[in-house]
Amino acid sequence: MCGIVGYIGKRNAYPILIKGLHRLEYRGYDSAGIALVDDEGALNVYKCKGKVAALEHFVETKNLGGSIGIAHTRWATHGVPNDVNAHPHCSVSENIALIHNGIIENYRVLKDALEANGYTFRSTTDSEVLVNLIEYIRSTNCCTLLEAVQQALKQVIGAYSIAVIERGNRDEIIAARKSSPLVVGIGEGEYFLGSDPASLIEYTNNFVYVKDGEVALIRRNHPLKLVTLDNRESKIDIKQLELSISQLEKGGYPHFMLKEIYEQPKTIVDCIRGRVNPDSGNVKLSGVIDNRERFLRARRIIFVACGTSWHASLIGEHLIENICRIPVEVEYASEFRYRNPIIHPDDIVVAVSQSGETADTLAAVELARKAGAFVFGICNVVGSSISRATDSGAYIHVGPEIGVASTKAFTGQVTVMAMLALTIGKELGTVSDDYFHEVSQALLELPDKLTEVLKLDAQISELSKIFTYAHNFIYLGRGYNYPTALEGALKLKEISYIHAEGYPAAEMKHGPIALIDNEMPTVVIATPDHTYAKTVSNMEEVKARGGRIIAIIAHEDEQVRRIADYCIEVPVVTECLMPIVVSVPLQLLAYHIAVNKGRNVDQPRNLAKSVTVE
Ligand code: M6R
Repeated sequence: MCGIVGYIGKRNAYPILIKGLHRLEYRGYDSAGIALVDDEGALNVYKCKGKVAALEHFVETKNLGGSIGIAHTRWATHGVPNDVNAHPHCSVSENIALIHNGIIENYRVLKDALEANGYTFRSTTDSEVLVNLIEYIRSTNCCTLLEAVQQALKQVIGAYSIAVIERGNRDEIIAARKSSPLVVGIGEGEYFLGSDPASLIEYTNNFVYVKDGEVALIRRNHPLKLVTLDNRESKIDIKQLELSISQLEKGGYPHFMLKEIYEQPKTIVDCIRGRVNPDSGNVKLSGVIDNRERFLRARRIIFVACGTSWHASLIGEHLIENICRIPVEVEYASEFRYRNPIIHPDDIVVAVSQSGETADTLAAVELARKAGAFVFGICNVVGSSISRATDSGAYIHVGPEIGVASTKAFTGQVTVMAMLALTIGKELGTVSDDYFHEVSQALLELPDKLTEVLKLDAQISELSKIFTYAHNFIYLGRGYNYPTALEGALKLKEISYIHAEGYPAAEMKHGPIALIDNEMPTVVIATPDHTYAKTVSNMEEVKARGGRIIAIIAHEDEQVRRIADYCIEVPVVTECLMPIVVSVPLQLLAYHIAVNKGRNVDQPRNLAKSVTVE
């Protein structure tokens, strides 16, 4: 999704802004631009379709002077990706430049009103409407830029984070937020602005998270000021972010996705550290223990999430129902928020989101809180909007995930869900000591098991060559591994653009079996569990129709080896943690097929890392 960067201070703004844009590239975008006020007060705006590298090339011969500026990567919502629709947008007089992340839902009404007042528009974006509204208010009311922004935003329905600068004013950036992330980085005599603090971490680790409805007045040589749209001043709360630059770089891997797949043994260690006691085998999530009474009286748990996080939630459903015997529902956040769901004050809503910024999940959290439910967050990004909007939670602690296709976040989410189920189950007394220790021991052994799985990489790379040009795939799994099948299919389609579907293996007969032929590979998760024999029968049905099978198996499984065309043998862990082990070869298969096809693995077309609009 769109990314925002800003700078005001004593250095040249341009290199800082460009570096920030590069750091935001992972979010997904289709055009980029920059606006600078130089030392004479001239406002210079440069923007173009394509990557940040194209923008750098475009500005090579331009005036890039100035110690104040704003920059943007755009992910198209209103209007195609092109030079004109790229941000920053200038007001009609070219006195004000604005960058915007989000959607102005009532832009049409505002635009009509401005047109009636003689305003004309160059682009088809909603953002250009906002910058002209600010200019209109500023000129007709003879007010300051801050006041004009406050008044304009009062008229806006929708979501935004914005930054605004003005010709002739090299001392001030005005920024504001509603439902779209925005932070101000505090340096020594300088300020940074960003949609993601990680993009600014080489300059500062002190950040102020702008809250919904707040406007930041960022002035040279003045303390940062936060005010509401009604000009009430808010408290400045500086948070420190512990992050190293190496976590944001590829570290010798060709792609972030591959690096992140390989990081998984370590990220699981980080995820369980301090939560699973290696000596006693005890498991504790403090977010649960600190709210023990609330969890003990939970009548129901509702997971809300999108995409990969939704798949992880389906595994969470199995874990909690099996271990805690509490009924669980798993909802797409986007559906939940609009379908007038029944939420009891005794329900616990678990919001799962890697980025912690997904607009639909955030809205579902707000809805659940209004209904009086207790909201527990499972997020990766520390300080993200969802983690701040929830009553309690558990971070997955897997470090920044830069590849658009989620990998280590998925395994981290499932790991946290296992710990969540064990913690609640123990408090409720619904889990036997033996099973509790079996799973906690398996959690401790997971990093070694994943190291073993990663040794399959060369085999999977070879296998991927056979299937690179398939047009369709089907992924089958059951029980805990039905969501793993969904996730395997999602990984493949996201980065290779091959159509892939995940199905519960037994459902195949009820429709998808019509698709089976020699052209369509079937990936079957056939690891040992209580439905293993049934899954083997499903494989026979695929073979009987000429289908080709790639099976994920455990041990020397001779029975499946005789049926499947290709087998990937993974180590066995306790059944409820098998999705973590099985998902790694599926990530690698998708990765290698995408590389073979020459796809942009880390930034697949049309996708965004954090989906901050509905
Ligand atoms: O940041 P979130 O976990 O809330 O993101 C949800 C989805 O947008 C995300 O999982 C998406 O499906 C990924 N591209 C999956 O690889």
